[in-house]
This record gives sequence, C-alpha cells and structure tokens, in this order.
Amino acid sequence: MHDETAPMPPLFDWSFASDPYPAYAWLREHAPVRRTELPSGVEAWLVTRYADAREALADARLSKNPHHHSERGSHGKGKVGIPGERSANLMTHLLNIDPPDHTRLRRLVSKAFTPRRVAAFAPRVQELSDALIDSFAGRGEADLIHEYAFPLPIYAICDLLGVPSEDQDDFRSWAGMMIHQPGSPRGGVGRAVKKMRGYLAELIHRKRADLGDDLISGLIRASDHGEHLTEDEAAAMAFILLFAGFETTVNLIGNGTYALLRHPAQRRLLQDAVAAGDERLLAGAVEELLRYDGPVELATWRFATEPLTVGGQPIAAGDPVLVVLAAADRDPAKFADPDRLDLTRRDNQHLGYGHGIHYCLGAPLARLEGQTALATLLRRLPDLRLAADPEELRWRGGLIMRGLRTLPVEFTPVR
Ligand code: HEM
Repeated sequence: MHDETAPMPPLFDWSFASDPYPAYAWLREHAPVRRTELPSGVEAWLVTRYADAREALADARLSKNPHHHSERGSHGKGKVGIPGERSANLMTHLLNIDPPDHTRLRRLVSKAFTPRRVAAFAPRVQELSDALIDSFAGRGEADLIHEYAFPLPIYAICDLLGVPSEDQDDFRSWAGMMIHQPGSPRGGVGRAVKKMRGYLAELIHRKRADLGDDLISGLIRASDHGEHLTEDEAAAMAFILLFAGFETTVNLIGNGTYALLRHPAQRRLLQDAVAAGDERLLAGAVEELLRYDGPVELATWRFATEPLTVGGQPIAAGDPVLVVLAAADRDPAKFADPDRLDLTRRDNQHLGYGHGIHYCLGAPLARLEGQTALATLLRRLPDLRLAADPEELRWRGGLIMRGLRTLPVEFTPVR
C-alpha cells in the first residue's frame, strides 16, 4: 500500500544505479516535475509521469540546442551534452539541434540510413552473434557484457558505416574507453571522442575519393535540393550514429538478458518459442524488455526557450528539462501492473526510443540487433544461467544510460 509520508529514496547514490525504480515511483507520485541538482552540479527539471513525458518530448518550446541553457542556479557550467563533443568540434548533430536544421539533416541521413539498408544487414548481425558465441561457447562460462553485448553493436555499426575491418579493433578500444570497459586504456571519454573524431574525418575524406556501398558513402552522396552534408556535418553524423547506437544496444542486450534470467517463466516462454522457430513473440518481447528496464534512463537534454508549464509546473526560460523515460515507462496510469515483466504485453507504447521529431533514428537497427542477439543466445545456450549473486552485480549509471558492468553466466559447454 502507498505510504503518504514515505521520504524520497536518494537519487544518484550507489543503490540508485542498481535499482532507480523506487525513487522514480516516489517522484511520479509526489513531485512529478521536480527541480533537482544532478551529480554534475547542473540543476534540471526531472519529468517522470508518462503523459507529461510524452508531451514534453514533442514540445517545440523545449529546444535541444545547449545555447539555450541559462545555467540559473547551476554550478555545472558547460556540463550538458556528450562529454568531449565541444572540444572535438562535434556539436552539430541531430541531438543538439532544432528545426529547420534538424529537419534538413535528419532528411539527409534518412536517405542513407534506410530501413532497407538495415534489413539487408540482418544476415551480418546473425553472423556476428554466432561468431561471438563461438568464441566462448566451449568454456561453459562467460561475461556476457564484455564478450557479447559490448562487441556486437560496435562491430555492427563499424560494418554499416564502412569502417575497414583492420581498423575496427581501434573502435572497440575507443568505445571501451567511453564506457570504461575492463582492460581498456584509461584516459577518459574526451580522449576517446577526439580519437574517433580524427579517424572519422580522415575516413570521410578518403571515401569521398572512392565511394562505396556503405553508410558513410551514402551520407556523402545524400543531397537535398542541391545541398550536401559538409565534411564536418558528415563527421558529426557518423559520430552520433556510433555514440547513440553503441552503449544503448550494449545495455539492451545486457539488461534484457539479465531480466530474462531473473524471470524464469518469461524466459521459458520466449526460449520455447524461439526453439520452435516461432519468432512471433520475439519482437514484442524486446519491446517489453525496453519498457521494463530500457537502456536509456533519461532522454537527452532539452532547454526551455520561453517560460512554460509542464504537468502544471512553471518552468523558466533557459532551464534544462530531463524527461525520465525509465520512470514514464513504469507509470501505472499508462501500463497495467507496470513493475511486472510481461513479454506478451499488448499495445506497449513505451517511450524507450523517445517520441516526436527526435524519435530514435536507429530503432530498426536496435530492434534487429536486440532480437537477433537474444534469440541466438537462448537458442544456442539453452541452459544459460546467472553465475553471480544479483546483489553483487555492479551497474553503470551514467546520467543518460544505465546498464550492467558485467554479466557472469555459465552453461553446458558447446563444442
Ligand atoms: C535518438 C534510444 C539505438 C541512433 C534516440 C532517442 C532515444 C533513443 C530515447 C531520443 C533522445 C531524445 O529525444 O532526447 C535508443 C535505444 C536504442 C537506440 C533505447 C537501443 C536499444 C540506436 C542505434 C542508432 C541510434 C542502434 C544508430 C546506429 C539515434 C540517433 C538519434 C537517436 C541518430 C537522434 C535522432 C534525432 O535527434 O533526430 N535514441 N536508441 N539509436 N538514436 Fe537511438
């Protein structure tokens, strides 16, 4: 039963990363639009109810451009956005701009990043999933984050973009630095972003002289009413595809597998369907895993361009607003029995991919990777089980994303 006097569970402490949902339930109930100091010192409004979240995501008065940030009451000057993007000259990407620039760039990239290109990529994603499982199947144990969830999206995006295979391990190492993977060189996100930026600029330059069938060549070719992407815009676009499509997918596979291992009846349902070659349940299951414990906890920054109200709460011009997708997707006003994982849930309009003009451009690729990765794992390692105490698993809780650092599993070795 709900306790009216319960204090707010702490936000952003160590227990929050492993289970933020009690704090989100409290916020939804008691302070659905609340000004909060973030660990970086920036003060922002957190929006936690589904209806308010959906409205805020589509509100044109909430700009994505960090120039609108007034820093009122914040001690976090310059701490909004993706670490390293300012110094690496990567600000002009889809998640930092509004119409009409956003409309133009999104139209251009959509010409290259088509659902057809993604569908044609399905056999390659299957091949990658199988090859990664082959690399540890004989051992009977693995860390599924390090050996499966992490490399799969990196190699997939590199292939799609057209990064030559001999350079892909550099990307794996820079991506590891971005999410502090064990064994990655230390040195921070900023350094990794700069290295990727330098590499992409050079790759775009090379490809311009020798266009191929990959996404970067598609970006170079794409034009709109005679307008092309500049090399800077193409580099920022390639970078945001990598950045937005990498850790998100790692966490979809990691959080998704973990949720299945923790819910044996649901896992059995999916595993039996997949084993029988019936993949009808699979698509809905991945959507439910996104709703239940999605990779993106908070949508990226928005800034009020004028005074407005969200959920009845006045917000001043220049204030940052963060829409808490993970809280909205557990709102009982929208989802029946929201804390229950139900892979057969119908009419699941979760906000895991956002909403409105910034709706995830990579959703078809994410779905393809999530469905293939989970189905292949369940099919090939049918007695997969957790090899750690759930209490001892560590979570990586950045501001925007949330996912497991490691996922130790065991299974009968397969030769
Ligand atoms: C935008 C989630 C995978 C590329 C977004 C947004 C969300 C999201 C919530 C909206 C952010 C906002 O409104 O502030 C996810 C999730 C993924 C995923 C949960 C995996 C499970 C991918 C992949 C790619 C990608 C694989 C590309 C390779 C993008 C881009 C945007 C975006 C480019 C910006 C779109 C725009 O501003 O117009 N994503 N994403 N995402 N995503 Fe994804």
